[in-house]
This record gives sequence, structure tokens and C-alpha cells, in this order.
Amino acid sequence: MSSTTLAIEIKPVTPPDVPAIAALAREIWQATYPGIITQEQIDFMLEQRYGHERLYDDLEDADKWLDQAFVAGRRIGFAFSELYKGEFKLDKLYIHPDLQRQGVGGALIAHVAARAKKLGYPCVILAVNKRNEKAIASYRKYGFSVRETVVADIGGGFVMDDFIMEKPL
Ligand SMILES: CC(C)(COP(=O)(O)OP(=O)(O)OC[C@H]1O[C@@H](n2cnc3c(N)ncnc32)[C@H](O)[C@@H]1OP(=O)(O)O)[C@@H](O)C(=O)NCCC(=O)NCCS
Repeated sequence: MSSTTLAIEIKPVTPPDVPAIAALAREIWQATYPGIITQEQIDFMLEQRYGHERLYDDLEDADKWLDQAFVAGRRIGFAFSELYKGEFKLDKLYIHPDLQRQGVGGALIAHVAARAKKLGYPCVILAVNKRNEKAIASYRKYGFSVRETVVADIGGGFVMDDFIMEKPL
């Protein structure tokens, strides 16, 4: 059951937010991915994607947008979007377990989709682990459907076993 009563504030991530975003990512990943990928892969991917230097670089990149969500002044989630091989991609979407299933993910998807539409893109794409059933259900609810399946080598001996999903705008 979703609630529509939360007051959600969406703001761009700025450099001073980087340590808090990295810590929030670790907390949410530890609540999400055990049972889907190994702890070694979780640690590897967190370092690869949320290392502070990596996040500072992302903030400098004109083809990337980092948005964060607050509820009652508490930072509870984030969505990163980017131009990827000529398409508009929702690259990361993570909501703290305390506030999942209350519409925050939907609000961030709407925010990102509005940006993609304004820039003239016909759809938003994303990659999601094939075993992440809750996220897949959420993406379906917000208009995404599976376009293809991919197994991508991400280095370190790890692979991502993903669906590529697409939401027409
Ligand atoms: C997936 C995620 C981003 C969705 O954000 P959210 O704020 O929880 O989602 P919303 O409240 O906007 O949408 C809720 C829908 O998501 C799905 N969903 C979210 N949490 C769920 C749960 N615990 N159990 C089952 N379905 C769930 C359902 O389809 C739900 O719709 P319903 O409540 O009408 O059944 C969020 O749950 C999350 O961060 N999950 C952990 C991290 C993750 O997997 N991120 C995606 C990586 S690709």
C-alpha cells in the first residue's frame, strides 16, 4: 500500500554531500543485495561506483545528474541519471529501507523522466539485476518494461546479470 502524504524534497547533490551519499549507498546496498550478489561483489561495486573521488568526478560531468531526496529534512534516497550511448539512463535509484514503498522512488523517477523529456529523449532506460524482484515490480509500476537481457563484465572477476528496462516518455 503506498502513501501519498509524504512531503518529498528533491535537490541536486553538491560536493559537500558526497560523504553522506556514499554512506547512504552502503546502508541501502547492505539491506538490498545480500542474497542477490556476494558480499565481495557488493564491496567491489560500492568502491567502483560510490568512492568519493568517483562521485566528485560524476558531479563534474556535464552528462550526469545526481539528485537526492529528503523527507522531513532527512536525506533518504538518491537518483543518478546520465546520457549513455545516446540514450537517457536512470543509472542509480536507492531509497532507505525505512521509507521504501511510500512513493519516494516514484517521485524520483518522475523527476528524472521530466528531465529526459525536456531534453528531447523518447524514453528512459535502466539496468536492474534480474533477481531484484522488488525493484523490477517498482519499475513496472512506473511504466518500464523489459527490453533486453545483458550479462556485463564489470571487472574484478564479477559480472552483472541484468534486465535493460525502458519507459517511453
Ligand atoms: C526499488 C526502489 C527504488 C523503489 O522505490 P520506493 O520508494 O520503495 O518505491 P515506490 O513507493 O515509489 O513504489 C512502490 C512500488 O515498488 C515496489 N516495491 C517497493 N518496495 C517493495 C517491497 N518491499 N516489497 C514489494 N514491492 C516493493 C512495489 O511495486 C510498489 O508498489 P505497490 O506499493 O503499489 O505494490 C526502492 O524500493 C529501493 O531503493 N530498493 C532497494 C534498492 C534497489 O533495489 N534499487 C534499485 C536498483 S536497480
